[in-house]
Amino acid sequence: MAFPPSFIDELVARNPIEDVVGQYVNLRRSGANLFGLCPFHGEKTASFSVAPDKGIYYCFGCHKGGGVINFQMEIEGLSYPDAVRALAKRAGMTVPEDEQYESRYHQQERLWALCKEAARFFHRQLSAPAGAEGLAYARKRGMTKAILTQFGIGFAPNSYDALLKAMKQKGYTEEELLAADLVSKSRNPEKSGHVYDRFRNRLMFPIIDVRGNVIGFGGRVMDDSTPKYLNSSETLIFNKRKNLFALNLAKKSKLGYLILVEGYMDAIALHQYGFDCAVASLGTALTEDGASLLSRYTEQVVLIYDGDQAGQNATKRAIPILEKAGLQVKVLQMRDAKDPDEFLKKFGADRFRLLLEESSNRIEYQLNAIRKKYDLGEDDQRVKFLQESAELIGTLGSAVQREVYGGRVAEAAKISPDAMKLEVDRARKRLQYQQKKKQETIDLAPARALQPKSRTIRYDNMKSAMAEESVIAQVLREPALLDQAGELKEDMFSSGLLGRVYAQLRQRHEMGLEVSAAVLTDLSGDEMSHITGILQRNQEPVSEQAFQDCIRTIRAEHQAAGVSTEEDLLAFRNQLKERKGLRS
Ligand code: GTP
Ligand code: MN
Repeated sequence: MAFPPSFIDELVARNPIEDVVGQYVNLRRSGANLFGLCPFHGEKTASFSVAPDKGIYYCFGCHKGGGVINFQMEIEGLSYPDAVRALAKRAGMTVPEDEQYESRYHQQERLWALCKEAARFFHRQLSAPAGAEGLAYARKRGMTKAILTQFGIGFAPNSYDALLKAMKQKGYTEEELLAADLVSKSRNPEKSGHVYDRFRNRLMFPIIDVRGNVIGFGGRVMDDSTPKYLNSSETLIFNKRKNLFALNLAKKSKLGYLILVEGYMDAIALHQYGFDCAVASLGTALTEDGASLLSRYTEQVVLIYDGDQAGQNATKRAIPILEKAGLQVKVLQMRDAKDPDEFLKKFGADRFRLLLEESSNRIEYQLNAIRKKYDLGEDDQRVKFLQESAELIGTLGSAVQREVYGGRVAEAAKISPDAMKLEVDRARKRLQYQQKKKQETIDLAPARALQPKSRTIRYDNMKSAMAEESVIAQVLREPALLDQAGELKEDMFSSGLLGRVYAQLRQRHEMGLEVSAAVLTDLSGDEMSHITGILQRNQEPVSEQAFQDCIRTIRAEHQAAGVSTEEDLLAFRNQLKERKGLRS
C-alpha cells in the first residue's frame, strides 16, 4: 500500500536518522558525520556512518545504506509498510491506512501483548497456591526473590487449561494462542480441534528481546523427567537464532564484556552473583546472527560452556563465528563443576572472578588444543606440533605477541626461541604471499570494481552510468540543479534504477516536496544501499559545469543506443585510475 508523500516526509522529519540509529548503535561525531560499529556486519573499527544533514546511513565496509525507513526495515527485518508503522509509532504519529489491513506488524504486536500477559500470569502463579511447588523448586535451586522478579520467572500450573482460560478472558483467541505456541492442538481424533496448554507443571523463563518484548518461553521440569526443557518453537515473533536469553538485561551492564553460556540457569545464576553481563543461547548452537547481535553491544565475549566434551566441541565451533563478527574471544574452562550455575553455588562469586581473570584468550586456547593433539616425546609429532603452532602464531599481527607465544611453544617443544622465530616468520611470509595474490586478483578487475556491489544491479553502459551516478549525487546535494536538467529524461538513463530515482526526485522537486535520499520509495534494500553508496562516494563539490557535462554524456550515450565500445572501456579504466589516484 502507498502512503501519501507528505506523510512520509513528516515521518522522516520526525524520526531523525541519528536518533533512530542511535537506539542500536553507539555513535561518535566526527565532523558533519557520526560513526559507529556497523550493526549489519561484524567489525572492530567504525566504518558505519550516519549523515544527519542528508538523512542517510552508509557502511563503507558492507555497503549497506539508506534512509531512516530502510534502517528500520533492515535492523528489525520489517517490510516497508511495517517499518513506516514502527517509525510512526515512535514519533507518535497516526498512520493513514485502511482499517481492516491486517499487517504482519499488527499481528506481531498482538503476539507481543499476549506473551507479556502470559508471562504476568505465570509469574503471579509463583505466589499463588497452585505454584507452591514451583516456588519451592526455585528456592531449592538457590534463586532469590529479587532474581525471580528481575527475570520475571514464573510457574505453569499442572493444568490443561489454566493459561488458556486466563488469556481468553483477556480477549485473546485460540488462533493467537496457537500462533504464540502457548497452546497445542489435540491430535486425538475424538478431541480434534481441541487446544490445551502447552506448558504444564514447569518453572517458566520468559525470553525477552532487546526492546523488552516477551517473545517466547523456556520451561523446566522440576524432576528428572524429559524433556528437561520445553522451549517455544519459532513463531512470528520468536527466532531462536536471532535472540539471546537475558541480553535485554546484559546490554545495560557496565562490565564492558559479555559472558556467553549454554543454559538459562547459568545466565540467571551469573546475574544473581553480580555478573550482570551474562547471556545464554536459546538451546541452539551459536549462530552468525547470534554473534552479530552480541557485537552490537560489546567487543569482547567470554565463552563459558560446560566442561564436558559437548561443551568443548561447542566452544571450538563458536570461536570462529564470534571472531568473524569482529569480537575478541576469551574462553573460560569450567573446572570442579559442571557449569557456571553449579560453580557459583559451590564456590561463590570470588572464586569465579579468579577463574574469569585467568580465562585465556583465543590463541592460548587454540595452542592448548594443538598441544593436546601431539605426544611431544615423539620427534615426528614434535615437528608437527611446532609447524601447526607456527601457522597459528604467524597469523598474529603483533610482533610482541608472536615472540611471547613463539617462546612458549619453543619451551614446550624444547627448541631454541630463535629456531621457532624462523618457523613463525616462514609461516607468516606464506600467509602474506597468499593475501597479496588475493588482492591482486581484485585489483586486476577494474570494470568489475566499478560495478555495483549488489548482483541484482548491473551497469550495461559504464560510461553513462558513471555520469548518471554523478547526476543523482549532485541533485541530492543541490536539488536546485533539477531546474537546469532541461531535456534529461528518465528513459535516457542506461541504468533503470538510476533513471527511476531521477524521475522520482524530479517529480518531487516539481511538486515542491523535499528532495533527499531518505524520502525515496519503491526501492529494494539493495537498491537503496546502492544509492546511498553513490552519495558517499561522490563527494566532490557540485558544479553547474560538471552537471551539464554529465547530462551531455548521458544524452550522447543514449543516442549511441548504449553500445559500449573498446574505446569506452579504455576510458573507464582511466577514470578508475584517476579515482584511485584521488583516493590515495
Ligand atoms: P539445569 O539442569 O536446570 O541446571 O539446566 P542447565 O541450564 O544446566 O541446562 P543444560 O546444560 O542441561 O542445557 C543447556 C540448555 O540447553 C538449556 O538451558 C536449554 O536451553 C537447552 N536444553 C537442555 N535440555 C533440553 C531439552 O530437553 N530440550 C530442549 N529443547 N532444550 C534443552
Ligand atoms: Mn545446570
